[in-house]
Amino acid sequence: MSKEDRRLLILEREIKVRMYQKSALLEILHLAHELYGYFDKDLLNYISERLSLPPSHVYGVASFYHLFKLKKPGEHVVSACMGTACYVSGVEEIISAVEREFNVKRGGSTADGKLSLFITRCIGACAMAPNMIVDNEVIGKATSETVLKRIKDIIGG
Ligand code: FES
Repeated sequence: MSKEDRRLLILEREIKVRMYQKSALLEILHLAHELYGYFDKDLLNYISERLSLPPSHVYGVASFYHLFKLKKPGEHVVSACMGTACYVSGVEEIISAVEREFNVKRGGSTADGKLSLFITRCIGACAMAPNMIVDNEVIGKATSETVLKRIKDIIGG
């Protein structure tokens, strides 16, 4: 996990808002899953460290819920913020454009496993709505054009 990973900053901010409380574990896991699309060992260790919980407990909760994936879904992960500000700013249109262009459904991956598309809640950057996250990059004031271009750049399409 790179320190420049914007998703980590979003996660860290949420952990802080929740005052590092152990009881926030499920909420934090949900947000992390929305941002990353799955949990790897580093991410679970990070959460366990920040909430001062034993890694075995965090792993146990993460693996209990079938909704959570413990394996990387696609080579690249795109998340769309579906919070109110992003919604009213037209994020739905961008999501549909990604679905059409790459033949992928929200919550799923392309047949070749190159791209997964997820929906996340407010990531706390409402002033820049609509926001999309392409791998570790947050694209603010996103448009279908900028997002499709960025995705094509990274998957080489
Ligand atoms: S609603 Fe998208 S960043 Fe707040």
